[in-house]
Amino acid sequence: MRIDIVSVFPEYFEVLNLSLLGKAQAKGLVEVRAHNLRDWTHDVHHSVDDTPVGGGAGMVMKPEVWAECLDDLLDLAPAEFPMTMGDGAATDAAAYAATAGDAAAGGTAAAAASSGAVAATDDAAAADTVSAADTRVPADRPVLIFPNPSAPLFTQADATELSRAGHLLFGCGRYEGYDARIPTYYRAQGVDVREYSIGDYVLNGGEVATSVMLEAITRLIPGFMGNPDSIVEESYTGEGALLEHRQYTKPATWRGMNVPEVLLSGDHGKVDRFRRDEALARTSKIRPDLIERLDCQALGKADRKT
Ligand code: ADE
Repeated sequence: MRIDIVSVFPEYFEVLNLSLLGKAQAKGLVEVRAHNLRDWTHDVHHSVDDTPVGGGAGMVMKPEVWAECLDDLLDLAPAEFPMTMGDGAATDAAAYAATAGDAAAGGTAAAAASSGAVAATDDAAAADTVSAADTRVPADRPVLIFPNPSAPLFTQADATELSRAGHLLFGCGRYEGYDARIPTYYRAQGVDVREYSIGDYVLNGGEVATSVMLEAITRLIPGFMGNPDSIVEESYTGEGALLEHRQYTKPATWRGMNVPEVLLSGDHGKVDRFRRDEALARTSKIRPDLIERLDCQALGKADRKT
């Protein structure tokens, strides 16, 4: 898997050479390159941001710099647009939709165009629809990912899906974020564009969020983990997607506390049942929202909806 990361702080990603991701790079499973967005600027100050149109605090990342960078990394030529930006959302949507129809020989952009969901204001919803519908990422199609606190939540299902991609490109925003036309434009060019939040809190930029997503994705690449079994029964994974049961190791008694006796019984059926019941009980208590989403069929307990 090729992974490009664009940031104004590319040094931040030097840590990716450590630990398991460093080993995976050495083994040739992944190739990570961090790029400095300022390398695509042309002014003396290497500026990447400007004031928000319509007013407001902070700065917004400029589309021109991002587009030069992303065109390079995605090997795309700049598209011609028959409209001037800022003519209004309806004009934007029509122009984007027309371009999307031309550019896409089926797939994401055509779907977005036909649904008319390409207005700049509607990107997050469009991204959501696309990721839900297209659960298999073709290995030869790059996926462009923008961390964004106002986007749909990144989940284990997204990590699993993206672990099958051949090329991921992360665009780390800073300041008040990036110009909304950037993801819209690349969707219209037929690129699989995702915007994800890693949680309901605001960070200073997309760098930490990118690291989090990268770790969640790359550890699922076949051959990445020393022991592949360790990812099979984790929280959020597999049937039911429950929180994982608690774990114990030796000694059986420590500071007056015993491990649950059933775990010492050697009866695998009982151990499995104990663990599954505990997973269910913990999930009901800590994350009832996950229980609501449970697939009763997969659990084999059609009567246990909540
Ligand atoms: N950038 C800032 N906060 C973020 C968050 N919670 N998730 C993804 N990207 C972000």
